[in-house]
Amino acid sequence: MGESLLDVRLLNKAFGTVVTAKDLNFSLHSGVITSIIGPNGAGKSTLINVLTGLLAADSGEIWFQGREVTREPIYKRVKLGLGRSFQVVNVFANLTVFENLAIPVLALKRETSNIFRSVARLRDVHGDVEKVLNQVGLLDQAYMIAQSLSHGDQRLLEVAIALATKPRLLFLDEPTAGMNPVERTRILETIRRLSQSGEVTFVIVEHDMDIVFSLSERVMALHRGQIIGDGSPEEIRMNPQVREVYLGEEVGHGAAG
Ligand SMILES: Nc1ncnc2c1ncn2[C@@H]1O[C@H](COP(=O)(O)OP(=O)(O)OP(=O)(O)O)[C@@H](O)[C@H]1O
Ligand SMILES: [Mg+2]
Repeated sequence: MGESLLDVRLLNKAFGTVVTAKDLNFSLHSGVITSIIGPNGAGKSTLINVLTGLLAADSGEIWFQGREVTREPIYKRVKLGLGRSFQVVNVFANLTVFENLAIPVLALKRETSNIFRSVARLRDVHGDVEKVLNQVGLLDQAYMIAQSLSHGDQRLLEVAIALATKPRLLFLDEPTAGMNPVERTRILETIRRLSQSGEVTFVIVEHDMDIVFSLSERVMALHRGQIIGDGSPEEIRMNPQVREVYLGEEVGHGAAG
């Protein structure tokens, strides 16, 4: 197991009476693909929102690479290497793929304006965008308008946008949602390959158990804001509580139709 990237201590978050994180304690380790599973409304997306800074925690601490980020704004966390993608497609529909990627690359490079540096910087931006396009296999679509891409390629573009911020830890919220099997295979291969490169550690929220069990090295099961199971895919598959609140239900649906 690699070094600890993210450490969460006694994290709490609620919306009125709906508790989405209750005294959560866990660490995420470098190089370990982790899946977060759980029924609808368990608090999975909210947890990502709190960890990455879109929502404030009610209490508790979030440490990233040994530095406390609990109250840091999103852009600071992104700069430190904490990235995310969203559950629904979130790209600039009328911009090209290249332009969608140039925005985060430029944002990351923003420095005091210096005309003498501009040309070098432009070349730099081009290089960074190309690298990301290559990583996700969208090089051929670089100059297509984002909304003309297939749904699967739009989701890949989302992952690419997140990668353009050079994350060390990247949260993907349901990256395969709405994808056909070919697109799924592509995105999963991309995640595996990038994970093996050692540059990025992935945490995914996923409902498809075949994907969860084949992709992840660690699975965390969330239910009403609490971790009811945390371990290897095999351990989670055998966990009675997880089976009762989530897996049993999934199997039940499958049997019914
Ligand atoms: N901004 C918000 N304001 C109020 N309630 C919210 C907000 N965001 C989420 N909730 C509520 O918090 C609970 C957890 O929501 P969350 O989106 O984190 O669940 P989830 O585990 O991601 O579910 P799903 O699998 O359906 O995506 C739900 O009851 C939801 O209605
Ligand atoms: Mg969600």
